[in-house]
Amino acid sequence: MKLFYCNLSLVLATAAGFTIQTGNINKYNSISTALYAGNPNPVFPVQYAPVAASPAISSNTNRRPIVAGNWKLNPATKAEAIELLNGLKAGGVHDSEVVIFPPLPYLSDALTILAGTGINVGAQNAGSNTKGAFTGEIAPSMLASSGCSHVLLGHSERRSLFGESDSSINERVQACLAEASLNVVLCVGETLEEYEIGLLKSVVDTQLRKGLAGVSADDLLMGRVVIAYEPVWAIGTGLVATPNQAQAAHVAIRDTLLSMYTNPEVASKMRIQYGGSVSPDSVKDLMAMPDVDGALVGGASLIPDSFLKIIQGSWN
Ligand code: PGA
Repeated sequence: MKLFYCNLSLVLATAAGFTIQTGNINKYNSISTALYAGNPNPVFPVQYAPVAASPAISSNTNRRPIVAGNWKLNPATKAEAIELLNGLKAGGVHDSEVVIFPPLPYLSDALTILAGTGINVGAQNAGSNTKGAFTGEIAPSMLASSGCSHVLLGHSERRSLFGESDSSINERVQACLAEASLNVVLCVGETLEEYEIGLLKSVVDTQLRKGLAGVSADDLLMGRVVIAYEPVWAIGTGLVATPNQAQAAHVAIRDTLLSMYTNPEVASKMRIQYGGSVSPDSVKDLMAMPDVDGALVGGASLIPDSFLKIIQGSWN
């Protein structure tokens, strides 16, 4: 059985340093793509058979799918952002919950253009300070009072490129949850090296315990936190985890939540997205897994047609 879907042309093109053009959007080259340079058929030592959640965690069929689009540092201009937003607006309203995370300068346009579509707008990060002499920072209250409903926290690019630690991510989580109207998407996931030596579960366990420290079971039961499982090796590489791999990681996440909160309801109700090279082709098989509740989408969220197909695929 093939362990991974491998978009060979994408891997080789990015490894060779080409810019990939998709529609009008210049897709970024992920740092993790470099890990695959010259090795289009990586073999990973840890293989997962289908797993089910612990019997203590009821299989909850009421988790509404949630699809989020992480635009990262794209697109380069406001005119392109408006074109993208209008493309999303044309897709109408959706059965799944949808959130987009544009760069900060486009938030106001996103809120205006997407009003009435049900698509939520969030920020890609927030600081933990509320106000004062913190040049360059953004306070959760600023986002909440501007109309944002979500904040993405702990993305692997924030961790690896900007030095965000589990404890600083936890401060941000708590500061955002202190704003009654803000919800958090907390990203966790292991690097390729960690994956290869079988550390997936322990890495994700630590990130959850530290990232959610001090967060109440009530906030989780109210659905104010969504976990995004994003294996770093899958982000921007075209290498999507197999449905079994995603399912195994999501079960591990529920196990950690059960152990942290000793409340099966918290573990059952938590929505867990898979992220990492999700495409219209892979979304349905991923969503068919009982513990995959949605997708966090990077590159494909910059192409309205692809993102709308992923939203559609998350429901069907
Ligand atoms: P990708 O990015 O879909 O381009 O892999 C996902 C993410 O970084 O959230």
